[in-house]
Amino acid sequence: MWTLTENTFDPASQHHKETIFTIGNGYLSTRGALEEGYPGESRATFVHGVFDAAPIVVTELANAPDWLGLQIVLNGEKFSLAQGQILEYHRQLDLLTGLLTRRVRWQSPTGQTAVIQFERFASLEDEHLLCLRCQITPEFEGEIELRATLNGHVDNQGLRHWNLTRQGRKNGQTAWLEALTRQSGITLALAMRLLSSARSAFDYWDAEGQPTLRQVVHARPGETVTLTKFVGIATSRDSDHPLALALEHAARPQSWDSVLEAQRQAWAREWQRCEVSIEGDEEAELAVRFSLFQLLIAAPRHDSRVNIGAKTLSGFGYRGHAFWDTEIFMLPVFTYTAPHIARNLLDYRYLTLPAARQKASDAGYEGAWFAWESADTGEEVTPTWVPDFQDKKKLARVWTGDLAIHISADVAYGAWQYWRATGEDDWYIRCGAELMLETAKFFASRAEWQEERNGYGYRDVIGPDEYHDHVNNNAYTNILAQWNIETALETLAWLEQTAPQRAAELKDSLNLTPERLARWRDIAARMILNQRPDGLIEQFDGYFNLTDVNLADYEPRTRSMHEIFGIEAANHYQVLKQPDVLMALYLLPERFTPEQVRVNYDYYTPRTDHTYGSSLGPSMQAIVACQMGDVEAAYEHFIRAARADLRDVRGNAGDGIHAASAGGIWQAVVFGFGGLRIHSDGRWETHSRLPRHWKRLAFCFTLRGQQHTVTQDNLLHHDSILHRGTR
Ligand code: BGC
Repeated sequence: MWTLTENTFDPASQHHKETIFTIGNGYLSTRGALEEGYPGESRATFVHGVFDAAPIVVTELANAPDWLGLQIVLNGEKFSLAQGQILEYHRQLDLLTGLLTRRVRWQSPTGQTAVIQFERFASLEDEHLLCLRCQITPEFEGEIELRATLNGHVDNQGLRHWNLTRQGRKNGQTAWLEALTRQSGITLALAMRLLSSARSAFDYWDAEGQPTLRQVVHARPGETVTLTKFVGIATSRDSDHPLALALEHAARPQSWDSVLEAQRQAWAREWQRCEVSIEGDEEAELAVRFSLFQLLIAAPRHDSRVNIGAKTLSGFGYRGHAFWDTEIFMLPVFTYTAPHIARNLLDYRYLTLPAARQKASDAGYEGAWFAWESADTGEEVTPTWVPDFQDKKKLARVWTGDLAIHISADVAYGAWQYWRATGEDDWYIRCGAELMLETAKFFASRAEWQEERNGYGYRDVIGPDEYHDHVNNNAYTNILAQWNIETALETLAWLEQTAPQRAAELKDSLNLTPERLARWRDIAARMILNQRPDGLIEQFDGYFNLTDVNLADYEPRTRSMHEIFGIEAANHYQVLKQPDVLMALYLLPERFTPEQVRVNYDYYTPRTDHTYGSSLGPSMQAIVACQMGDVEAAYEHFIRAARADLRDVRGNAGDGIHAASAGGIWQAVVFGFGGLRIHSDGRWETHSRLPRHWKRLAFCFTLRGQQHTVTQDNLLHHDSILHRGTR
């Protein structure tokens, strides 16, 4: 199943649909808003890296001038789904090609009827090119007027980011618009070139901020009029002459068919690297392909100065800021299917090291403390305050920017995993090792000796479970920090062997004296882990003393336990926003026995707010459930993740794609049900645990430059099939 379809138009779900019908090409994305507009729409195009200052959220991706605009006037009546009658409606997104099509048979209030078909895509082959085609087949005789626009009058939910600097017409069929962000000073240029099946000339309307080309065509019943709009787009981040670049890209296409063919081929190459198929479960198959599609259209291919926001480029939620969602949830997808993209994402962290060093030193620490929320510069952009759930007139303090230190280890983990998977020693020597050492340096300087515990740990932090803030010795943080410091020491030993000059350089620039390294060893060896003799790990100091809750007592519910308890009060209960201890066990399987995982799984699973807690949780929970052989429970968690966007089960898909969940869905299929396990020496094996109704699972992944395809049949409902492989 490769298509996402919609057969009726429901204005009440338009924001959700705008999100899931987002198209893009790794340079930008455009939400699935309608060409002709609709009241209350949340229309947006986000271009990577085009940030501008915004109150409270510090900086946000500026909604770019709109390239979609196309008004159709049938015998004097404007086509709009808000009036007249919708006689037929069908919309579909073809994930194989990235082509979004909408076909409407519409009757105007006075009875003019036409079939109108729109198609659009963002070229993957030429990322500065956007393509839109409209075919109108009237059932009346008269006049069709077409008004194609570029529109600079756009905002971010009320906040305007653009000064409209220049606009004009190039020749009979090309018009352009240039705008400048108000604070960050980024110029963006759009150029549209029209091709029409009708011969009549285009008029140019020089409407302020909205250059328009207009054509009037004589309409005859059954005779289709076709208008194609090619839009070139560029910013001053790409070139000193963005307008020239935009005009050049708009002028390039020979025809609709030729650009569509190039698009097909470009997408075929993408899918060839990462295709997943699931026979016997169309919903699951569509969900994993949709997740891959959404990640691929948000993934920067030619730019390492940007990252992928928690809502990709598909909505206003989280303002384009990147989180640990990237390294822990999305990056594995790229590391194992598109390493060139993974590398861009990691290079972004490398480029933002200066900001991470600054954050650490501003707080009185050494090394690199990455921003919890990161945008263009890598400085911390987590808002300090947000409106409270319960009373929107009150503000609630957001602590993650101050206390979520685990982000530094997450980044280091992503870099290490990439290195192990690709074997790119050159990259690790140049960039990855420094990320590893600088984050270890941070964790060593932030560690506190806790006399009463006879060990080191971290006080006053937030772990992945954000229902609890200001906690001491969060297990995830301590475990990952310990891993980070140990892996940094191994990295240094490896560098001394492999690249002694670089080792010496780093030892010198990071001041890695023997005394310092001895202290690192001591911290790592004596890191506090609250573990009971049976292997149960306490999520943080005192967690077991909190009030235990039977979550079933709160069912049915439609709100998170955070909302139900209140932000402050949630601290007093054992309810988790998302797996915390289990996440650490998942990330570092070599360090824990299956019995330990079992004990923790049994304890934390019933205490986790799976339905309305973090959207990051269900896919991870699904993987651990698979490892526990609890395939039915795994499927329940997995399908919850799969529906987060496609069915809007959390009610917030309108804010944008849940990108971490999308990455988690792929991980749940490949590492969970498919049971792929990659060892640090490059060997791999799979131990599949397919849901009973799955007939066959096939997926591919790339390890050290070599692509592998795995096919697992669920013959006679055998529960496990063992595949092994080596590099
Ligand atoms: C989650 C975080 C996540 C963020 C962005 C929060 O609700 O608790 O773990 O990084 O959303 O997706």
